Amino acid sequence: MKKLRFGIVGTGTIAHRFADAIKNVEEAELVAVASRTKENAEKFGDEFDIPIRFDSYEKMAQSDVIDAAYIAVPHSGHITCSILMMNNKKHVLCEKPMAVNKREAEEMFTCAKENGVFLMEAMWARLVPGTIKMLQLVEDGVLGDILAVEGKFCYTMDEDEMDHHVFKPENGGGSLLDVGVYGLNFASWYLGKDVADIKAECTYYNGTDSHMCVLMKYKDEKIADISSATLLRKPNEGFVYGSKGYARLPRFYAPQEIYLHFNNGESETISVPYAGNGFEEQIAHFCSCVQKGLAESDIVTPEQTLFITEQMDTIRRMTGIVYPQD
Ligand SMILES: NC(=O)c1ccc[n+]([C@@H]2O[C@H](COP(=O)([O-])OP(=O)(O)OC[C@H]3O[C@@H](n4cnc5c(N)ncnc54)[C@H](OP(=O)(O)O)[C@@H]3O)[C@@H](O)[C@H]2O)c1
Repeated sequence: MKKLRFGIVGTGTIAHRFADAIKNVEEAELVAVASRTKENAEKFGDEFDIPIRFDSYEKMAQSDVIDAAYIAVPHSGHITCSILMMNNKKHVLCEKPMAVNKREAEEMFTCAKENGVFLMEAMWARLVPGTIKMLQLVEDGVLGDILAVEGKFCYTMDEDEMDHHVFKPENGGGSLLDVGVYGLNFASWYLGKDVADIKAECTYYNGTDSHMCVLMKYKDEKIADISSATLLRKPNEGFVYGSKGYARLPRFYAPQEIYLHFNNGESETISVPYAGNGFEEQIAHFCSCVQKGLAESDIVTPEQTLFITEQMDTIRRMTGIVYPQD
């Protein structure tokens, strides 16, 4: 089968991780990189041995050297870069959160439909073996009825990083969109979408949420407790609690170890390593969807992306976090 030819948009932190991972995916090849500057395009191209380098995103969009683009710019640029690529008939894998609000996400999915291209949010965590295994354990009833989940993804930026886009409202900054998005996805994977009530409290930095705590009560009496932070470090772990026991998940949204603790005192550890750095599975899934000619992923669905984006809109409204895009 012909390999899907990828081009990367942006040359920052996550672009590096993607460029490392794609080497291990048979169905894909990295043929191009686009940066706002020639210097960064060349530097990144040299680092990963990428044959074609563009000094503008537009030039790569208009070229015929790629089939698909991976969007790795700050959240606020996801819509413009994705639409630019899709209007030029390129499939798009767009970093999370796919958009800063639901209106933008809807516009992006409409654009994909109009252009007959495939668009997926890069929710890699849903596709790693650990998440798939954990969902299977739950499906098999290993933990009994699932009654609650808890997940904390809270990091602290250094003092010399305070100019980062995660602290800028115009870039869709704040912990909720940056990493809370994983907690909300995690809650929906195990507790579903019938949320009856949401409560949220946050602390602020420069008009963004620097620590967000969200409690969700579901119609069937289940509860999710999710937190995120950009200026507070917590142990990065989560729990899935059931009637027969619980699972502790380090890096809960994409675990490589599952620690099961049963009410009868027994315990079990399951190891579920990534194929590489955790991105390989999503790249392979993306390629497989495109090669099958699917309009959308059956796992990281548009419905899921829109549901979580709407939840983030609601939580931001409750806590007064407003972006110019709203
Ligand atoms: N999946 C994950 O695990 C994961 C982890 C981290 C981040 N992310 C997501 O990936 C996206 C990028 O995050 P990152 O940490 O890679 O950011 P980053 O290190 O700051 O890199 C972003 C890149 O985007 C380009 N860019 C375009 N417009 C920009 C602007 N106004 N300000 C700054 N850079 C701009 C720059 O590349 P050029 O100058 O070369 O064009 C820059 O290197 C975010 O949406 C984030 O949520 C995902």
